[in-house]
Amino acid sequence: MSENANNTPVLELLELSIQFGGLHAVDGLNLRIKKGCLYGLIGPNGAGKTTVFNMITGVYKPTAGSVLLNGKNITGKSPVEINKAGIARTFQNIRLFKAMSVLDNVKAGLHNETKYTAIEGVLRLPRYFREEKRVNEKARELLKVFGLEDNINSIAANLPYGKQRKLEIARALATDPKLLLLDEPAAGMNPNETAELMETIRFVREQFNMTILLIEHDMKLVSGICEELTVLNFGQELAQGETAAVLKDPKVITAYLGE
Ligand SMILES: Nc1ncnc2c1ncn2[C@@H]1O[C@H](COP(=O)(O)OP(=O)(O)O)[C@@H](O)[C@H]1O
Ligand SMILES: [Mg+2]
Repeated sequence: MSENANNTPVLELLELSIQFGGLHAVDGLNLRIKKGCLYGLIGPNGAGKTTVFNMITGVYKPTAGSVLLNGKNITGKSPVEINKAGIARTFQNIRLFKAMSVLDNVKAGLHNETKYTAIEGVLRLPRYFREEKRVNEKARELLKVFGLEDNINSIAANLPYGKQRKLEIARALATDPKLLLLDEPAAGMNPNETAELMETIRFVREQFNMTILLIEHDMKLVSGICEELTVLNFGQELAQGETAAVLKDPKVITAYLGE
């Protein structure tokens, strides 16, 4: 690969915009995330942060602008196509298969890539058993990474909140993404759970060499793990750059952080 190809950002947003009726929910947003970066997207409630995630993942079609993944234009593709292309996410309100076991939640992510045909599955042919074994082992390994190995048979809804968040991240990683999007992962957590989550996110980045875009309100978490930030305000970029500099920016303090 040429040097140039290695410098291609994992994610690039170019003049990304969407309107709902007369509301410019996101307006001309530009953003570049390097491979392996832990990048934060912050700003007041209603600034348009989740809407940015919904455009990146194909839930909403942008009114204008584009989304590039490793230099490839994925604007307007379906959520399934975008997940296959390499983007996985978690949600502001946890979404799990609540009535399913912890193990089956992660296996649901892994089945995106299973390599047996429906017929082989129905007839339970040898390849089906080999695949099932591989999926089971991979799911168990992932759960071990997140310290959930003792909970594999628990029903997801019965896990404590912090573990549900971890499970949601594990399931997202099971789809083998190049880019992981986390929408307010610390929301509703107590300080201990938040501190542990911070370690988990760091660990995921190191262990999987993952590129992560994170929406978060907890400033301790943001300043503790994000290398770069974009601050969004009324759908527009208010500030962008290295975390320490952005958090000192008077514009950011006035509009978001308070005195
Ligand atoms: N599907 C939609 N239809 C109409 N308005 C929407 C829709 N989704 C989001 N919005 C509006 O867009 C703005 C940004 O919302 P959102 O992205 O959820 O903010 P944030 O995540 O920063 O708190 C809000 O004013 C919200 O009401
Ligand atoms: Mg939101």
